[in-house]
Amino acid sequence: MAKTATPAENAQLKDIIGHAKEYGFVYPSSEIYDGLQAVYDYGAYGVELKNNLKRLWWETMTRVHENIVGIDASIFMHPTTWKASGHVDSFNDPMIDNKDSKKRYRADVLVEEHAAKLEKEGKAEEAKQLTAALARLLEAEDLAGVRDLIVNTGISCPISGTTNWTDVRQFNLMFSTQVGSVAEDSSTIYLRPETAQGIFVNFLNVQKTARMKVPFGIAQIGKAFRNEIVARQFIFRMREFEQMEMQFFVRPGTELDWYKQWSETRMNWHLALGTPAEKLRKHDHEKLAHYANAAMDIEYEFPFGFKEVEGIHSRTDFDLKSHQEFSKKKQQYFDPEVNQNYIPYVIETSIGADRLFLLTLCNAYTEEKSEEKSRTYLKFHPAIAPVKAAILPLTKKDGLPEKAKEIVDLLKYDFNIIYEDAASIGKRYARQDLIGTPFCIAVDHQTLEDNTVTIRHRDTTEQERVAIADLHGRIAEATSFRRIFEKI
Ligand code: GAP
Repeated sequence: MAKTATPAENAQLKDIIGHAKEYGFVYPSSEIYDGLQAVYDYGAYGVELKNNLKRLWWETMTRVHENIVGIDASIFMHPTTWKASGHVDSFNDPMIDNKDSKKRYRADVLVEEHAAKLEKEGKAEEAKQLTAALARLLEAEDLAGVRDLIVNTGISCPISGTTNWTDVRQFNLMFSTQVGSVAEDSSTIYLRPETAQGIFVNFLNVQKTARMKVPFGIAQIGKAFRNEIVARQFIFRMREFEQMEMQFFVRPGTELDWYKQWSETRMNWHLALGTPAEKLRKHDHEKLAHYANAAMDIEYEFPFGFKEVEGIHSRTDFDLKSHQEFSKKKQQYFDPEVNQNYIPYVIETSIGADRLFLLTLCNAYTEEKSEEKSRTYLKFHPAIAPVKAAILPLTKKDGLPEKAKEIVDLLKYDFNIIYEDAASIGKRYARQDLIGTPFCIAVDHQTLEDNTVTIRHRDTTEQERVAIADLHGRIAEATSFRRIFEKI
């Protein structure tokens, strides 16, 4: 059951949001116009971090696995795609409005949050009965029953405090727009709510042109759009976001073995990236979507509780079969090993790039307080840190800036490097800590004599003397994806 965040946990999220804005990671979209709810922009260090996460995911999929290739499909797709996938008819959330505050809520979330509150008050049995009743009503698609449950349980609006509720209605989450310049000729198309369908409709194109044999996978990173009504918790739930999805096509009957394998592989990926095991957990779906025969989430303990970061779904042959029916084009594969034509079954791994970004930021955000010193720093794995090293001449004279710039030139083609010569060295170290730079390289008078520099390590603040000639190798070793790949 969802855990309600304590005030301390909310304060931690507030600190992280403040840090992300102040140090160039994430800003509210179009902030000068007071922002747009659930839409965010990434700043100078945010975009580097996000690109590193996306590159790590991409290379994990397409390089580590020789039977996975990538594609980049369009955001707009033929509208029938979304009929076939079921999104037009059933990509809905049950919504309810409070007539006094005029605020709209997801009906199921209202009930779940009330149940979490009951549990915190020590009324675990009552909470259990409430969530069980909700599950039964949703299963039966009994929206009137969901409203009765809300009213009879006395769940009130957090804004108005009243129980003056409207009926519960289904609300489709897809954004639509028109193609065509003349209104009469135009037709409705959708902004894709998931990237997966771009993979399904290209299944045979990719299989034939990349000469893939089942089992094989297709990976994609791209934007997805959902008209989320309950848009909260910073970049956790956005209206425009990025997904990193991989569909793995397998022989029917083998899908549950592959599902198990992918569930483990993806959990190992998170662990290899340095996320502590106690902050991750698996959540098996009890209520399966109509197209799935197994599904689980990987959850991370955010400051607001354990929440889904990634989904692993055994989607059967639902999508390809449905596209075959709607398009009237065969979506079959001839398997020479068993001498048979079949529609492959699919295991999907699906993770939001923005949600992974939030996990990474929450995990890295470290406040250190002791009697001697207190500091805040971002403990990113060096392989994904936005800036790999800062080159800092001790003073602005005696040829130190020139020597430091020589070092920048030595490293800048392979690593994202910062040069900084303003302020005291201590302040410059502190600033790099705040954006999570793993190495600060100080250039001093000794450097001019013996071509050595001081490396200061972010996490320990320890310093060591290193030859300039060894810098490239040292940084390359620490920031290589290889060390992550080898652990998966
Ligand atoms: N193709 C399957 C699919 O889209 P999903 O559980 O709806 O499944 C997969 O989404 C992942 O996409 C989630 O685990 C989450 O990381 C991310 N995601 C979904 N909705 C999101 C939103 N509104 N904002 C940010 N990320 C989102």
